[in-house]
Amino acid sequence: MSLKIGFVGTGSFTRFHCNLLSKMEDVEVTAFCGTSLDKAEKAASSWNGAKGYDSLATMLDAQALDAVYICVPPMAHGATEFALIERGIPFFVEKPLGLDIELPTEILHRINAQKLITSVGYHFRYMDSTKRAVELLEQRKTGMALGHWMGSMPKVGWWRKQDGSGGQFIEQTSHIIDLMRYLMGDVEEVYAAYANRVMHEVEDGVTVPDVGTVTVKLASGAVATISNTCILPGDGPVGLQIYTDQGLLEITRDSIRELGKSFVIEHKNVNNPYVREHEAFLHAVRTGDGSGILSPYADSVKTQEVAYAATRSAASGAPVRIRN
Ligand SMILES: NC(=O)c1ccc[n+]([C@@H]2O[C@H](COP(=O)([O-])OP(=O)(O)OC[C@H]3O[C@@H](n4cnc5c(N)ncnc54)[C@H](O)[C@@H]3O)[C@@H](O)[C@H]2O)c1
Repeated sequence: MSLKIGFVGTGSFTRFHCNLLSKMEDVEVTAFCGTSLDKAEKAASSWNGAKGYDSLATMLDAQALDAVYICVPPMAHGATEFALIERGIPFFVEKPLGLDIELPTEILHRINAQKLITSVGYHFRYMDSTKRAVELLEQRKTGMALGHWMGSMPKVGWWRKQDGSGGQFIEQTSHIIDLMRYLMGDVEEVYAAYANRVMHEVEDGVTVPDVGTVTVKLASGAVATISNTCILPGDGPVGLQIYTDQGLLEITRDSIRELGKSFVIEHKNVNNPYVREHEAFLHAVRTGDGSGILSPYADSVKTQEVAYAATRSAASGAPVRIRN
């Protein structure tokens, strides 16, 4: 039987996910909820028979949806998740989980009470390179990691505002924190330094820092630094380097490179990690078996906690301990 899917948010990543879902069997996107009826109907018009709504309650009353995808900016979380939890509707939510840690913690509390199936869009976990890294790290001792997300500032207005996106480290670089946590375990302490160097002088209304570096102590005893900037004119490097007793692993969005004493081996990513995250989530919705979901809400809350701790540390100038 075909799964009926609804979307909240009508922006670029809704379109991206819809394109992938359109190629999957037994999945129908039937409903879109937007900030205006016009936007929602426009989004729905590219799907045969889909309808647009400007109210989530109206959408959920009108259609018996099997699952909902939430693709809204960080400042727009809360009411949607609460409504879906109350109705027991499984959801996939794009990262990050919000601007702070208090709201995601409250959402998690309610998810746990309902035992609801959830998945979060930390898709780096589904990359071939990450799978290979998991296998390699089973036989190695990690010492430290260096992570980075270097690029330009996305053009959407909410991204440049601290109270819209939460800043680059939460909005974007949390992918790298999440990858580090997945491969190297939980974080115990975070110390961050951020600055506004360029973007507030060249674009209007920029309140997010545009450079930052974050030092992390992990529960294993390993250490890491993760840095980011959005001052570049275009794309820059994105990835995580893990230094181990048997050499260096370099994980990017395209591949993993294993660098040993006298060898370099590169494995290119073949599978689309976004397709894999959809397959895992939709399988869970169909069968109740969530074991293929690599990034459930409960785990992503820990990533959010680290990212938000970095914001607090950068503001106070002091290290922040993580609860775990
Ligand atoms: N996993 C990834 O690789 C990846 C890539 C891109 C974006 N994202 C994430 O997806 C999310 C959305 O990004 P985007 O690129 O689609 O942004 P966008 O600005 O293109 O679209 C956001 C949409 O949300 C709508 N919206 C805002 N508040 C809303 C609300 N309360 N209810 C319903 N709709 C609301 C806006 O009107 C807009 O249609 C962001 O959190 C972003 O980080 C993830």
